[in-house]
Amino acid sequence: MQRTNIIDTIKNINQEVLLKGWVHFQRDKGKIIFIELRDVTGIVQCVTWHEDKEAFEEAKKLSAEDVVEIIGQVNQRPDNQVKKDSATGAVEISIKQIKLINKAQTLPFEINKDEFKDVNEELRLKYRYLDLRRPKVKSNIILRYKVIKFIRDFLGQKGFYEIETPILTKSTPEGARDYLVPSRLYPGKAFALPQSPQQYKQLLMVAGFERYFQIARCFRDEDSRGDRQPEFTQLDIEMSFCNQEDILNLAEELFTQLVEQITDCHLTFKPFKRLTYKEAMEKYGTDKPDLRKDKNDPKEMAFVWILDWPMFEFNKEENRWDPHHHIFTMPQEQDVPLLDTDPAKVKSWQHDLACNGYEVGGGSIRIHNAEIQKKVLKLVGIDEQEAQEKFGHMLEAFSYGAPPHGGIAPGLDRILMLLAGEPNIREVMAFPKTTDAKDLMMDAPSEVDEKQWGDLNLKSKK
Ligand code: AMO
Repeated sequence: MQRTNIIDTIKNINQEVLLKGWVHFQRDKGKIIFIELRDVTGIVQCVTWHEDKEAFEEAKKLSAEDVVEIIGQVNQRPDNQVKKDSATGAVEISIKQIKLINKAQTLPFEINKDEFKDVNEELRLKYRYLDLRRPKVKSNIILRYKVIKFIRDFLGQKGFYEIETPILTKSTPEGARDYLVPSRLYPGKAFALPQSPQQYKQLLMVAGFERYFQIARCFRDEDSRGDRQPEFTQLDIEMSFCNQEDILNLAEELFTQLVEQITDCHLTFKPFKRLTYKEAMEKYGTDKPDLRKDKNDPKEMAFVWILDWPMFEFNKEENRWDPHHHIFTMPQEQDVPLLDTDPAKVKSWQHDLACNGYEVGGGSIRIHNAEIQKKVLKLVGIDEQEAQEKFGHMLEAFSYGAPPHGGIAPGLDRILMLLAGEPNIREVMAFPKTTDAKDLMMDAPSEVDEKQWGDLNLKSKK
């Protein structure tokens, strides 16, 4: 007999089916036992009566999370007994046979309730593979798959190539602390994990790919918060021969279709609202305002572009200008002369996308001219020697015929968090880290032995 997925039981009324899955609930009511059976597609209620000795005795022994096979008849429920909140609420399985495949010991926490505030974060993350059995968390991860698939199809149709870039690379100027990977072959040297693929995507434009994207893993060694993880995913995009308007339109079309076609959320603004940085700060006191009409509505997505950013902010401690976005962002043409006279007044081609009070994306038109790039590096306190050491490859690349280019990198985890109505990005990541940056399930970071340190020409200092 072929297995039927639980969601398909409703298409098999009056048929006998073989179901395989986990016991979500076992309710022993004396003469009748209800088993809620769960697989990846859903949950269905199965029932057995005491007259049916064999199946009833088997059902009696079952407890939550046992793995079983059930053969039963799909019966339609009478209209007044249909469970409206369940996709299989119109049917019930009358059990003919139960086979216990694998007994589960008592779990460290109950997983058959979506609301369980009493289970602490550490326990959930230590047993993440159990936590992921909960239907809500599981549906978040499946939504993530659907969103990524939608993005790949959408951008593929628009002529974008998905290109992977290295994880073992060199420090990038995104502003956070790097994760370093010490080199065994070159004592004293280290790779850095990418804070973003920023330089690679620009170099892919110099290489002539014209339209690139990547579902890119990024690493930043900074304090975690609800919307920040040490390891996260960007939808990284870069285009050649484009202006800012082209980038905004592309991202807007993508997210509009995505929200409307694969989620039950709705957009507050169509087209997205646009504010200048100055307007946002003056009116809302923040560069990521929450512009939802109804802040109690988790299904509302209020996307707003923040534009016309100042190129620099003054860093008093270091007595230098810091780039507002990053050093590759292009100053607006009319302001280029101000780089020499009044950097504070220079506006850039940075664009940020905010939604419901979160920064969900950032990007810019890039500098493709080596002279302007050198000037910007100088203003942010990187002298010529350091510029050559750190970014010589970029400056050189720009000298071999670099096309004008620009891009954006929406934070996929943050967008998914909002689409799923969750308060924290770890709810949309399969294996997130704790707030103090640990993987409790794998117990990482972990001790390594002295020999391994030695191979890297390092010594541990506890
Ligand atoms: P930026 O640093 O603004 O730009 O990052 C882009 C987006 O990535 C998300 N994000 C994060 N999400 C989760 N955890 C984190 N620690 C984290 N840090 C950032 C945010 C943010 O808006 N290379 C440029 C993009 C470009 O210029 O094209 C960059 O990385 O949603």
